[in-house]
Amino acid sequence: MFVDAEDNGTAVLVRMFTEHPDTKSYFTHFKGMDSAEEMKQSDQVRGHGKRVFTAINDMVQHLDNTEAFLGILNPLGQKHATQLKIDPKNFRIICDIILQLMEEKFGGDCKASFEKVTNEICTHLTNIYK
Ligand code: HEM
Repeated sequence: MFVDAEDNGTAVLVRMFTEHPDTKSYFTHFKGMDSAEEMKQSDQVRGHGKRVFTAINDMVQHLDNTEAFLGILNPLGQKHATQLKIDPKNFRIICDIILQLMEEKFGGDCKASFEKVTNEICTHLTNIYK
């Protein structure tokens, strides 16, 4: 889906950290987070961007198989809720940025179809907190 998980994942994270600087508070162990330029070069941001987008690519490949899709999403959601303690409002923020990036790169039709996927991801991630 996202052919270059590292480049696309990095672009999403840099935009999230720049437009919503409070999201950086979960990444205090990342160095070089003061400017977008620094973040784009950071091995930590690039590595994390790749991990996030590789997970999304995995989920997209299992959209037709609920058990497999949730098999990837549920443990991730558990980790974000209990260990990382991410405020779930941030899932909507990152999903909206993913959609913006898709629209910029591939146009509105692509955004509209991917919206179903991000909605699915956001809903399940948020439900884990209930
Ligand atoms: C870790 C995916 C949203 C903060 C991770 C990992 C993945 C991932 C695959 C690595 C897990 C592991 O190593 O076991 C996702 C996906 C998201 C999402 C698919 C939504 C589409 C967020 C948001 C935040 C966040 C919105 C905070 C604003 C973190 C943090 C870590 C992490 C702090 C640990 C990073 C580290 O210590 O290296 N995430 N994530 N995630 N995520 Fe997320």
